[in-house]
Amino acid sequence: MKKVLIVYWSSSGNTETMAKQAARGVEEAGGEPTLKTFGEASVELVKAAEALAFGCPAMGDEALEEEEVEPFIGKLSRAELEGKPLGLFGSYDWGDGQWMRDWVERMKGLGAKVDGEGIIAQLEPDKDACDKCLELGKRLAV
Ligand SMILES: Cc1cc2nc3c(=O)[nH]c(=O)nc-3n(C[C@H](O)[C@H](O)[C@H](O)COP(=O)(O)O)c2cc1C
Repeated sequence: MKKVLIVYWSSSGNTETMAKQAARGVEEAGGEPTLKTFGEASVELVKAAEALAFGCPAMGDEALEEEEVEPFIGKLSRAELEGKPLGLFGSYDWGDGQWMRDWVERMKGLGAKVDGEGIIAQLEPDKDACDKCLELGKRLAV
């Protein structure tokens, strides 16, 4: 049973919905999901996980949320991420997904095996985005 840590930040629930779908996918594929907010998670938990998913909406100006997410991501290194499967997801509104492209490249730069291009949803995730998160969870669990 693969231990998958899903860590997210969400102000109005859109990215949270995506996180819960990913957790459901992990469960459906027989894995063991742990769902935490960035405020609750720790670098030690990231290190112990066999696979990871991180979720954060586009904030600032195409940036990660700056109070909890950016400091947490800034603490991670190759020691926790090298060779580890990592799914990225998040909601946005008026942009074109630049924050996600930047995030994917940043995590690849730390050696993570990033799943595709990340999953983005404009505002509330629609069925397509929810299905993509569910499938992400299933992939991470096997
Ligand atoms: C302070 C603030 C900054 C934001 N900056 C961006 C941005 O740079 N680009 C973008 O596409 N959306 C931006 N948004 C829109 C959010 O990404 C969008 O509302 C998203 O659905 C929030 O997800 P959540 O419900 O998980 O918090 C911003 C929203 C807020 C409140």
